[in-house]
Amino acid sequence: MATSFTLNGKPVTIEADPEMPLLWVVRETLGMTGTKFGCGIAACGACTMHVDGVATRTCVLPVADVEGLEVKTIEGVGTAQTPSAVQRAWLTHQVPQCGYCQSGMIMAAEALLDETPDPTNEDIDAAMTNICRCGTYNRVRDAIRTAATLRREG
Ligand code: FES
Ligand code: FES
Repeated sequence: MATSFTLNGKPVTIEADPEMPLLWVVRETLGMTGTKFGCGIAACGACTMHVDGVATRTCVLPVADVEGLEVKTIEGVGTAQTPSAVQRAWLTHQVPQCGYCQSGMIMAAEALLDETPDPTNEDIDAAMTNICRCGTYNRVRDAIRTAATLRREG
């Protein structure tokens, strides 16, 4: 069955089992591997993408559910030449260790700052429920505060 949606600003139509999780469609069918698979049960956040601007765990999201919606992956956030404020802050604070969880972390942080441009520590803790086996949590919090400032400065 065909499903059509927008991926990083471009329309896509794919033939896939409507129950196939969006994560697999993006990684396997569309070949965009920036988003990672961690737990497969919506617990770790490694697979986070934006669906209509909302940070969403795509390992349990049937692709049919994004029909007509806007999906954004880490590939749509910034490039090495033009990183987003969040990505610049991630570099400043040297957040990634092994890096495996980090595209999901960044997508969650981008969605938080889109919704709450000047988050409190409580806002950050409430939004950032992603799991990191390397324990980057303190650096993630520091980087989000820096990114909030960078965004305000434009
Ligand atoms: S892989 Fe989706 S939440 Fe862990
Ligand atoms: S940086 Fe290694 S899992 Fe988070």
